[in-house]
Amino acid sequence: MNGFDLRGRRYLVTGVTNVDSIAWHVAAALQRQGADLVLSSFGRAARIARKAAARLPEPADVIELDITDEDDVADAVRELERRWGTLDGVLHSIAHAPPDAVGGHFLDTPADSAAKGFQVSAYSLQRLAAGLAPLLARSEHGGSVVGITVDSTRTLPGYDWMGVFKASLDAVARYLALYLGPRGIRVNLIASGPLETLSAQGVGTFEALAEHYERWAPLGWDRTRHDQVVGSVLFLLSDLSACTTGQVLHADGGVHAIAGGIGEPPQRS
Ligand SMILES: NC(=O)c1ccc[n+]([C@@H]2O[C@H](COP(=O)([O-])OP(=O)(O)OC[C@H]3O[C@@H](n4cnc5c(N)ncnc54)[C@H](O)[C@@H]3O)[C@@H](O)[C@H]2O)c1
Repeated sequence: MNGFDLRGRRYLVTGVTNVDSIAWHVAAALQRQGADLVLSSFGRAARIARKAAARLPEPADVIELDITDEDDVADAVRELERRWGTLDGVLHSIAHAPPDAVGGHFLDTPADSAAKGFQVSAYSLQRLAAGLAPLLARSEHGGSVVGITVDSTRTLPGYDWMGVFKASLDAVARYLALYLGPRGIRVNLIASGPLETLSAQGVGTFEALAEHYERWAPLGWDRTRHDQVVGSVLFLLSDLSACTTGQVLHADGGVHAIAGGIGEPPQRS
């Protein structure tokens, strides 16, 4: 086992919009460990994503991938097949909720908004993992699929249907672990605390949420420090996690473990 020496490993990193994207920080860390990368971006953000890719430690190619477009998924698989013929891992860092599915509209959200959010934010993990499974199965280190979720066991005011999509994502990951495990492919999620990104700006209660984490996390939390989750993502993408699958690993300063809001917040020295 080579641990975090990822020289020669090959990864697809989805969900890069700009240098604030969690995926961008994961990409930079993977490169620092020696890994080769292809990034993917989506729609109008592709141009900005190329600029962000140019700011990585090493330049990386960006392919366009709308996860709801079967042709795009097939093209991405073909491109990686042509380029490498194998894949050691993929980061799924993709989510979208229509505006009427978040922000307190829970009781009125129409079916098509709920369905669209589910497709992009949860079902997409199945499309990505199933499409890439033949390449991931050829990894000599065991292929790894990693996604980013939140603590979906509790409600977060304003997060609404996104909370439902994330609970679905957790279940999709477990079923993928069941069906892809026999091919040597692991599927795990990181439940991240709140980080300042473009997507986070779409959550009206983000400020209150981030404040709660920063106040109550036993280990502390800082909404501007993406490195708080990156190490856990790398662990799951590397073969240090060779026998771990179907797992949700919390990278949240410990907030999931406590009932914050009672008594005094932790006093850190
Ligand atoms: N920022 C946070 O506080 C936080 C906390 C927990 C989990 N997450 C999750 O982390 C992941 C990354 O989000 P982020 O915060 O880095 O924000 P971000 O806006 O940088 O990334 C979200 C990505 O989803 C992509 N996307 C949306 N629709 C797509 C589609 N149809 N096809 C392909 N890609 C599509 C966007 O292009 C974007 O790159 C998401 O799953 C998000 O829910 C974020």
